[in-house]
Amino acid sequence: MKKKILILGSTGSIGRSTLEVIGQQQDAFEVFGLACKGQADLLNQQIEKFKPRYVCIYDEGQKDKVNFDRNKLFTGINGMKAMIGMDAHIVVNALPGSIGLEPSLEALRCRKILALANKESLVMAGRVIAKMVKKSGAKLIPVDSEHSALYQLLKNIRKKELKTIMITASGGPFRKLDKDALEGVRPEEALNHPTWKMGQKITLDSATLMNKGLEVIEARWLFNIEPSRIRVIVHPESILHGIVELVDHSFIAYMANPDMKIPIAYAINEGVRKPLAISPLSLEDISTLTFHTPDLGRFPSLRLAYDALASGDSAVIALNASNEVASQAFIEGRIRFTDIPVLVEDALEHHPGQAEVDDVATIWEIHQWATTYTENKFKTP
Ligand SMILES: NC(=O)c1ccc[n+]([C@@H]2O[C@H](COP(=O)([O-])OP(=O)(O)OC[C@H]3O[C@@H](n4cnc5c(N)ncnc54)[C@H](OP(=O)(O)O)[C@@H]3O)[C@@H](O)[C@H]2O)c1
Repeated sequence: MKKKILILGSTGSIGRSTLEVIGQQQDAFEVFGLACKGQADLLNQQIEKFKPRYVCIYDEGQKDKVNFDRNKLFTGINGMKAMIGMDAHIVVNALPGSIGLEPSLEALRCRKILALANKESLVMAGRVIAKMVKKSGAKLIPVDSEHSALYQLLKNIRKKELKTIMITASGGPFRKLDKDALEGVRPEEALNHPTWKMGQKITLDSATLMNKGLEVIEARWLFNIEPSRIRVIVHPESILHGIVELVDHSFIAYMANPDMKIPIAYAINEGVRKPLAISPLSLEDISTLTFHTPDLGRFPSLRLAYDALASGDSAVIALNASNEVASQAFIEGRIRFTDIPVLVEDALEHHPGQAEVDDVATIWEIHQWATTYTENKFKTP
């Protein structure tokens, strides 16, 4: 029987790669539903090719441009939630930022298999999600390449054998720039990642290293591991994605070309490996793999993520919300690249501290507080 799959964010980088995998494995999957924000033209092409049963376009104003049965066409967050509540087996959450949280929670409530690319869900609500997964038996499989690597490695390792987990980072486009040069970088430079072709938010987060900070928080909840045992290592070739260090000082690493179709296929096939038509990895062609310690002086966002984890749940929620606002302001040319961590740190210093947040309403309250706080910092009166 084909598995019914619902893709939230189908017109984005992860969404398109998911459809490419499905295109290669048509005997295994049926596209149950597609959702995007407003790119009606691309959505129409996907509808034509994959013939979903249901569709959602978030922006109500774009609805008329979608060529689809009006009775099966939804809009808004409630439209996405309605599709999640139907009978798809797998929900791929490839939405960017905090908009992804409610769909993740809904997928877990409905006991779907959640293939999670939206790391912000775990950043904002890691404690809540970990409880839901434990209690309900819902399945969450990470799509983020580093977490997919670690998920696979940790399957074969006993808890008492594990010393640390390591997340690799490409270092982003500004790895070699000094502090002064970082002040002057332009949005178009920050949105040009050296190894991964991704959506706007994650690309900018990769340039500030906040993406790695969010990934450390994601790993903390996904693998139930103390932050002090999660390390970040800069590895510009992006071939090793996750490494585990064991108590006998041996390392086991996961290697693959930087192609998101690999972790996506692993997640939607629930850990079963199938052939994929992608470029094979040639170690001879790569020849050299390099590793460095991240420079937290030039890239303070990663340090802020560790600080927030140490401070507690409300700090982590504030970090994420403030980063969203500050990043958008940089993209719009309203602040400098180096202002992003300054604004985030300011929100962390002033947020209403709460060590444990285990209800969704409070998560949104803190998110809203940090959003408004950071917005007010650069609003012109
Ligand atoms: N890209 C990667 O390689 C990669 C790797 C690891 C993890 N991730 C994570 O995966 C998530 C998605 O990243 P991405 O790079 O694929 O992002 P992206 O290219 O920006 O795509 C975002 C997708 O979400 C849709 N969307 C945005 N806001 C929406 C809303 N309010 N309602 C419904 N749909 C909405 C967009 O629709 P429109 O096209 O209509 O705007 C698009 O389909 C992020 O959390 C990211 O951190 C990505």
